[in-house]
Amino acid sequence: MVAARIVVNGKETPIAPAAPHTTVLDFLRERGLTGTKEGCAEGECGACSVLVARPGVNKPTDWVAVNACLVPAAALDGQEIITSEGLATPGRAGTPPELHPVQEEMAVRGGSQCGYCTPGFICSMAAEYYRPNRCAHAESTHPADTADTADSSDAEHGPNGFDLHALSGNLCRCTGYRPIRDAAFAVGTPADEDPLAQRREQSPPAPVATEYTQDGSAFLRKGTLAETLRLLRERPDAVVVAGSTDFGVEVNIRSRRAGCVIAVDRLSEMRELRVASDHIEIGAALTLTEIERRLDGSVPLLAELFPQFASRLIRNGATLGGNLGTGSPIGDSPPVLLALEASVLLADADGEREVPLTDYFTGYRQSVRRPGELIRAVRIPLPLSPVVAFHKIAKRRFDDISSVAVAFALDIQDGIVRTARIGLGGVAATPIRSLATEAALEGKPWTAETVEAAAPVLRAEGTPMNDHRASADYRSAMLGQSLLKLYAQTTEAVPS
Ligand code: FES
Ligand code: FES
Repeated sequence: MVAARIVVNGKETPIAPAAPHTTVLDFLRERGLTGTKEGCAEGECGACSVLVARPGVNKPTDWVAVNACLVPAAALDGQEIITSEGLATPGRAGTPPELHPVQEEMAVRGGSQCGYCTPGFICSMAAEYYRPNRCAHAESTHPADTADTADSSDAEHGPNGFDLHALSGNLCRCTGYRPIRDAAFAVGTPADEDPLAQRREQSPPAPVATEYTQDGSAFLRKGTLAETLRLLRERPDAVVVAGSTDFGVEVNIRSRRAGCVIAVDRLSEMRELRVASDHIEIGAALTLTEIERRLDGSVPLLAELFPQFASRLIRNGATLGGNLGTGSPIGDSPPVLLALEASVLLADADGEREVPLTDYFTGYRQSVRRPGELIRAVRIPLPLSPVVAFHKIAKRRFDDISSVAVAFALDIQDGIVRTARIGLGGVAATPIRSLATEAALEGKPWTAETVEAAAPVLRAEGTPMNDHRASADYRSAMLGQSLLKLYAQTTEAVPS
């Protein structure tokens, strides 16, 4: 087996002697690439953003920006990354480097003061600069082009097609965002001879099997799902990671160390998206960005979810498998998947079983998933209910954790609610279905009277608690309001 290494700015760089838990951020900085900064070490500031060559949606390769503070360096064995240093063109002897177009725009438009956040902004901006079809989307109103906005407006898309949500995971404490936005909206189209634009036309590096061991702990990646499941049977204690957006926080903030980490993010069997006549099957290791772009708005409730799920940087690594696997009661995807009546496909070395999501969660961060089992895919039955909404109540509009989340999927025909499916997050030890409210709506006319009668039922669902994000009373109040809001959204008439 070839020694683990990453191609950094075009140069083969061995991962050793980094520990298996060492992040890409520390790996880079220890090798002198100090443009990549640590602001928070938990995926919330984007100062550590770098570009990774990943399988593309419209071209063989996409340049994808990720949080280097969350990803173990061993997870990028055999892969190719670009840092802010690698974007500029080195100058000849005695001359300064030639800035990349996004660096140039940030410099001339005053997008940087202390500069701490700037390399991260540059990498996120460069990913959007190289997004295929960005310029073609400049004047478009096609849903696929605006899927990254909860409330699409000109203010969030530049005349050059730049989607400001590409920067939703980057924070700046001193410049103010207007000059940064000015820079983003001023970047042009990559030149034909631009090496990173040309790089998109070739495939990204193929996944490699990794066995990286240091000081008794291991980071392992197998080539197939069957091999991975056999390994998991031998090592049921292993931590399974895809984008590492959750485990990376545990490693950095809580000093968690695992004896064995198994990566599943590049397993082709977990990266398929299949549409059958009666269901859609989404591979558990596809990133949220990949799902968003591949579904292209065809599952409207998921299309509402994605822009509200963390930030673009996180969505470039996070997966549905990971969000369900952690079993958090405030994960954003479970309420949506509950409303869609999804099921999970759990695989182990002996086979596979399908479990409705309503039966999956058993307690706080607990599920029916057994040691040795993986979530291989999520299945959403078709047809979809036509009236949908995802209401996330949080302190910030983007890049925040839910206090309460409510997902609705209603089938209303001839003014009568035929079926109602409502998923709730943040109001119990697990994500739950709102069964009493569903019963209060089904068979009733979709009227202000019905909604006013059902809102108190929804308010009483779950067992919300007081914590630093919200009080129990506030959470309950928001549930009721959510139903009133849905009614207002569907009728534009607000019940009293
Ligand atoms: Fe803040 Fe990585 S250091 S997101
Ligand atoms: Fe100082 Fe952004 S320029 S934090």
